[in-house]
Amino acid sequence: MLRVGVITASDKGARGEREDLSGPTLAKLVQEIGGEVVEYVVLPDDQTLLAEKMRQWVDELSLDLILTTGGTGFSLRDVTPEATLTVADRLVPGIAEVMRMESLKITPKAMLSRAVAVLRKQTLIINLPGSPKAVRECFAAIAPAIPHGIQILKGEASECAKPEVV
Ligand code: MTE
Repeated sequence: MLRVGVITASDKGARGEREDLSGPTLAKLVQEIGGEVVEYVVLPDDQTLLAEKMRQWVDELSLDLILTTGGTGFSLRDVTPEATLTVADRLVPGIAEVMRMESLKITPKAMLSRAVAVLRKQTLIINLPGSPKAVRECFAAIAPAIPHGIQILKGEASECAKPEVV
C-alpha cells in the first residue's frame, strides 16, 4: 500500500470559507493505484507553510507520495510550485509535462498551470491544479506510471523493461 499525503493549498479553504472538494477527490483517486491517504491538510497559499509541511511529511513520516492541489496558477498568491522546488532533491519534469500534454487536449487553459513534480529523499511530490475537474484529468494522465516510479524510488523494483519475446 502506498502511503499518501494530500495538501490542498487554498486561502479560502484554510479560512473555512470554501469546502475543499479536491482533497477528497484525490483521496478516492489514489485508491485506484493502491494508495491510501494517511495525512491530509488544507493550508493557505503560503510558501513557507507549504514547504514546511512537505518537509515534515518526508523527513518525519517518510510518505511514499505527496499530492498537492491548488496554487499552481498565475495569481500572486499561487506559490505551490515554488514551495515544492524549495524541498526538492531532484526534478521529475516528465510528470508535469504529461499532465499538461493530456490536459491540453481538454482545455487550452492547461498551459496556465505551473505544476512541478519532484523527489525528496524517497518521496515523490506532485503538484496538481486546484479544481476537482483538473485533479481528475491530471491524475488520470499520470496514474499508470506512478506505482512503478515509487517502487524504483524505494528500491523495490530494479527492472523496468520486460524481457523481449523474440
Ligand atoms: N488542467 C486540467 N486538466 N483541467 C483544467 O480544467 N484548469 C487550468 C489549469 N490546468 C485545468 C487544468 C486553469 S483554468 C488554471 S488557472 C491552472 O490549471 C492553475 O490552476 P490552480 O491555480 O488552481 O492550480
